[in-house]
Amino acid sequence: MKGLYVQTYGCQMNVSDSERMKAVLAPLGYKNVARPEEADLVLINTCSIREKAEDKMGSFAHNIKNLKKTNPELVLGVTGCVAQQEKDNIQREFPFVDLVLGPDNIDELPWALEELRSGPSDHILRTEFDNSAGARVWHTSAQVLEPGPSTFLSVMKGCDHFCSYCIVPWTRGREKSRPIKDVVADVRRFVDQGVKEITFLGQNINTYGKRAGESLEELFYAASEVEGLRRIRFTTSHPGDLKDSLINCFKDLPKLCSYFHLPVQSGSDRILKMMRRFYTVEEYLEKIAKLRAVRPDIAFSGDFIVGFPGETEEDFEQTLALIARVEYDNLYSFVFSPRPGTSAATREDTTPANVKLERLDRLQNLARSISRRRHEAEAGKVHEILIESVSKKDPTKWTGRNSQNVPVHVQKVPGLDIGDLLQVRILEGSLTHLSGIPLSLESPGVNESQSHAAQRIHF
Ligand code: SAH
Ligand code: SF4
Ligand code: F3S
Repeated sequence: MKGLYVQTYGCQMNVSDSERMKAVLAPLGYKNVARPEEADLVLINTCSIREKAEDKMGSFAHNIKNLKKTNPELVLGVTGCVAQQEKDNIQREFPFVDLVLGPDNIDELPWALEELRSGPSDHILRTEFDNSAGARVWHTSAQVLEPGPSTFLSVMKGCDHFCSYCIVPWTRGREKSRPIKDVVADVRRFVDQGVKEITFLGQNINTYGKRAGESLEELFYAASEVEGLRRIRFTTSHPGDLKDSLINCFKDLPKLCSYFHLPVQSGSDRILKMMRRFYTVEEYLEKIAKLRAVRPDIAFSGDFIVGFPGETEEDFEQTLALIARVEYDNLYSFVFSPRPGTSAATREDTTPANVKLERLDRLQNLARSISRRRHEAEAGKVHEILIESVSKKDPTKWTGRNSQNVPVHVQKVPGLDIGDLLQVRILEGSLTHLSGIPLSLESPGVNESQSHAAQRIHF
């Protein structure tokens, strides 16, 4: 047995890629260990979406360099988006790195390790994209060693959008989708292993299947048919590619969760144009309204970039106004970070850093007050949760998520376990989570009709 430690940064796709690395290395005898000190192989699965994310790789790699002094046999690999973006620069700047593998080269890990062990070179670099004929279709099968009740499933990779600030099309290549029949085969296999909830992943998942005449809607309808699968989630959507046919899925498919991550990036049409996002704020709001009309309890989350080059106070105030109007349940916000090779990185940027940070602070304060208010308003209602784990803080409790993707802490009850669905009476809500008691433990006095009424109250 050999010890494997994988350090993951970045998005859900990287989390899913790390699971794949563990799975392709398992047949070679690699087992996950809790600390890098116990490992024979350390992989840093990196993200380069912002400069800060990229910097994390460097500091972690230096810690491993020190470990190599006491364990000279230790192999260190850098994978993911920084590997793809920086390629041989990594080996120049960090000569103690043995292996550099791009996101398209994960399946080559066993061969790369063998080559490192027996070949003439003490450094391996693999960052080629699969550009062969027909490579616009991605043929693979998902690999997760021990999936929990909820798992990620990558159904596509890459992106064709080239938003002016974004590095992803460079680090993940052109968009490629997997055929529906392959994805559904994975869904069935996962369900047989006890999975109840699947989050389909793609950088721009709304264009899933476009080159094969397939669509995300068709995938949802097909996955919904799989008996035993209880919940479907998906991320990430581009508002410009969100069609009515997908919105209608929220009417037709009860397994589709009442949660939509719909990043808008800015509330100013002027900035959206410079970002090359291809939609207006008005169009975005129309889509939000349509979704709320077909699924009234839907919760939204989004991403915002603050301080895009040229953003004025007025542009920023339009962003605040949009946030107040949509009332996001949860927001992710970032200060613009110039990324190498992207067109926005060359734009003149006169906004001082302290002004950008102050805007971020204002945005986050507003977002937090909305989230807290929304969560507090849930007290008294009944939510169904998927039990995902034992609470870290209190072993007498479980943690799960409701349909709207909010973590819920609840007292354990006999007869149920991780992976089961549970009806919970919410007692209180805070910024980040809800707490409640299982409906079955509720004191008599709350009658059936009251609890059914509560279930229908919109989130
Ligand atoms: N594919 C998704 C998400 C891409 S990355 C989408 O199209 O929305 C996740 C988020 O990181 C983006 O939504 C954006 O808000 C942020 N981001 C991307 N590039 C950035 C940059 N250069 N600076 C700051 N934030 C960035
Ligand atoms: Fe990046 Fe998303 Fe735009 Fe693609 S759609 S370029 S992943 S922000
Ligand atoms: Fe980061 Fe790459 Fe994901 S840049 S956000 S890990 S696609």
